[in-house]
Amino acid sequence: MGKILFGGDYNPDQWPEEIWDRDMELLDEAHVDTLTVNVFSWGTLQPDEHTYDFAVLDQILEKLAAAGKSVCLATSTAAHPAWMAREYPDVTRVDFEGRRHVFGQRHNSCPNSPAYRRFSVELARRIAERYGTGTHPSSGIIAAWHVNNEYGGTCYCEHCGSAFRVWLRARYRTLAALNKAWNTTFWSHTFHAWEEIVPPSALSEHWGGPNVTAFQGITLDYLRFNSDSLLQNFIDEKAAIREFSPDLPVTTNFMGLYRPLDYFRWAPHLDFVSWDNYPPDAQSHARMALTHDLMRGLKGGQPFWLMEQTPSQTACRDFNPVKRPGVMRLWSFQAVAHGADAVLFFQMRQSRGASEKDHGAVITHGGRSDTRVFREVAGLGEELESLAGEIVGARTHAKVALVFDWDSWWAVEISDGPSRHVSYQQTLIAYYRALFEQNVAVDVVPADADLSQYDVVVAPLLHLVKAGVAARVEAFVEGGGVFVTSFLSGRVDESDNAFEMEAPGPLARILGIRIDETDALAPEDLNAVVFDHVPDVNGVVPDGVGVRFAANLVFDLVQPGTADVIGVYESDFYAGMAAVTRNVIGKADMPGEAWYVGTNLDAGGLRWLFESVLRARGLLNCYSGVPGVEAVARYRDDVRYLFLLNHGEAESCVVADMGGVSLLTQAVISAGERIALAPKAVVILQSPASVDPPAPDVRNS
Ligand code: GLA
Ligand code: ZN
Repeated sequence: MGKILFGGDYNPDQWPEEIWDRDMELLDEAHVDTLTVNVFSWGTLQPDEHTYDFAVLDQILEKLAAAGKSVCLATSTAAHPAWMAREYPDVTRVDFEGRRHVFGQRHNSCPNSPAYRRFSVELARRIAERYGTGTHPSSGIIAAWHVNNEYGGTCYCEHCGSAFRVWLRARYRTLAALNKAWNTTFWSHTFHAWEEIVPPSALSEHWGGPNVTAFQGITLDYLRFNSDSLLQNFIDEKAAIREFSPDLPVTTNFMGLYRPLDYFRWAPHLDFVSWDNYPPDAQSHARMALTHDLMRGLKGGQPFWLMEQTPSQTACRDFNPVKRPGVMRLWSFQAVAHGADAVLFFQMRQSRGASEKDHGAVITHGGRSDTRVFREVAGLGEELESLAGEIVGARTHAKVALVFDWDSWWAVEISDGPSRHVSYQQTLIAYYRALFEQNVAVDVVPADADLSQYDVVVAPLLHLVKAGVAARVEAFVEGGGVFVTSFLSGRVDESDNAFEMEAPGPLARILGIRIDETDALAPEDLNAVVFDHVPDVNGVVPDGVGVRFAANLVFDLVQPGTADVIGVYESDFYAGMAAVTRNVIGKADMPGEAWYVGTNLDAGGLRWLFESVLRARGLLNCYSGVPGVEAVARYRDDVRYLFLLNHGEAESCVVADMGGVSLLTQAVISAGERIALAPKAVVILQSPASVDPPAPDVRNS
C-alpha cells in the first residue's frame, strides 16, 4: 500500500568518506527512507570532455543500497563543469543587459547552446545506462529520476535568438501572420525577413526592466519561448533516460508560484510533479496551500512530491529565521493534506562551505542527533512510518476551482497601463485566501480546463482570454455554475491585442456588463465599495448588507447591462457607480451567476463576498471560518482523511463533523466530539468516506 516517502537531498561527496557510515546510522535514527543524490556532481562525474568517472557515485549508491534506502537519482545537469565554459564559451548565458556570463554559480547554461544540449543529454544517458538497466548492483534502489534542478532563468544569446526565430516560424508560419499578431505597424516595426527579429531585452524593446517593454506581443512570445526552451532540455534528458529505463518515473523539481515557466505546459511531460517549498515568511499558510493545490492541479489531481523544504532555516535571504518548534511538522502535514505523497528536505547533511554552509539541514556540522531540529525530523519520520498503508494515492474532492493562467500572469504584468502595481501572484493569493479561510477544497486548474465538475469557478485577473475560453465559461454559467472574475479580466487576446469590442471583451456577454473607463491610482489612494444593493439569487438579503470595504489600485467604472449591481464605489466622481456586479443566467431552479469584481477589494471584502457566494451554494462546512485552523481532506477507496491543522498562535477547539480514528494518536473520536487543537497541532481523522458530511448547522468558531 506504500508509505509517504521521507528524506531528501544528500551530498556525502562534500564530506570525508569516514563519516558516511555514521550518516547511515543517523538516517536510520531519523526514519529516512529516500535520498535524492547526484544533483550537483557534473564537475566530478565528467572531469573533461572525454572522461566520465562514476567511482564516487557508485560508492554512494552502494552505501545507500546496503543501508536499505531508496534513491531519487538526479542527472546533475543544473550546473555545468568549469572546463565546459572554458572550451565552449557559448555554453554560458547572455543576460537581459546583453552581458555574456563566464563560469560561475549554477543554473547558468544556455538552454539552446549546442554544447550544453549535447553534453547534458549524454550525461543523462550514461547515468541511466549505468544505473537504470537493472544490471548494476544499485539499480534496484532507484525510485525515481530527478532531471536537472529548479529549471529557470532566461538567456538572450545568439543561439537563443536563432532558436526563437525557429519557434516563431513554427507558431506563425508567415511573417504576415507574425506582423499582425505583434501589431508591428505600431512604431515602424514591420518585419520583412525572419532574421530581423531579435530577442526582446534591455538592448532592444525594454526600456525599464523585464516588465517594461515597447512590444508586449514580442515579450510575451519570448516568455513562452524561454519556457519551451528549458522544457525541451527536460524532454531531451528524459528521452535519453528512457532509452535505458523504460518504467521508472521521471520528474524535475518545480518552484511553485514561479513566473518564468508555464508549468501547465510542462506537466504533461513529467511522470509526477514535485516542488520545493520555501515560503517567504512564517505567515504564508494560504500561499503554501494555494501552491500545493496548483502543483496537484498541474496533473489533474495526481499526488505530487514535496521534493525540498528546509528542516529549519534558509541561507539565501537577508535574514533567515529558524522554523519555530512544531512548524516543520505542521507544514509537512499541510503538504500531505493537499496531495503530497513524499516529504523531503534540502538537505540531510549540512554543507561544509560555500553559500549554503549556514542553510538548515537534518544533520548539522556537529553530526549530532540530539539537536532540536534532528529530534523534530526524527519524530515526523516516526509518525510517517506509523501511517504506512494510509493516505498515499488519496485524492482531493473539490467543488470550487481557481483558474491559474501563466499567459495572463505574463500579460498583465508586462502591460503598459493601467497600473504597474497589480501583482498576479498577490491577487491570486488574496482570492485563494478568501476560500482557504472558509476551508473549502479548491482545485487549481488551467484556463482551458473542463469546468463542468465544479459549482464555483474563480478566475481573478483573467487578463488574456485564449480562443475557446469564453465559450467554456458561458457554458459553465448557463449550466448553473457560479463564475467570479476580477478587474482587468477579458482585456487581450492570445497575442496581447485588445479585442475589437469594449472590455471585458468576450466575457462581457456572460458578465452582463461593459467597461468604458478604468481608473488607476497610487496604492495608498483608497476608495471603498459599499455593498447595500441587491439581495441574493434566492431573494435573501445576504449577511452584512450595508457593509463597506476598502479598495485600491484599479477601479473599473462598470456599466451594468443585464447584471445586478452588488456593490458601488463610495467616493470620487464615480461614487455610486457599480464596482461589483452579478449577472444571473438561466433557469430559476438552478440559475448560473457571473460575478465581476471591478477593483482590488481588501481582504475583508473578499472574505465577505466569498462567504456569501459559498453559503448560497451550500458549500460552507462546519470548519468554515474557524480562525487559524485549516481543515482539508483526501479520499481513498471508502476512507476520508481529514487533516486539521492549527496555524494560529492560540489553542483552538473544533467539533468533529464525523466520527473516526485520530490516526496519530489512535484515539477514537465520535461525531460532534470536541477536538482541542494546540498551536501547531495536527490531527488526521480517518472516517468512512461514504457518509455525507452533515449540513453546516453547527458552526465552529
Ligand atoms: C533550492 C535548490 C537546492 C538548495 C536549496 C536551498 O531549492 O534546489 O539545491 O539550493 O534551494 O534552499
Ligand atoms: Zn542562450
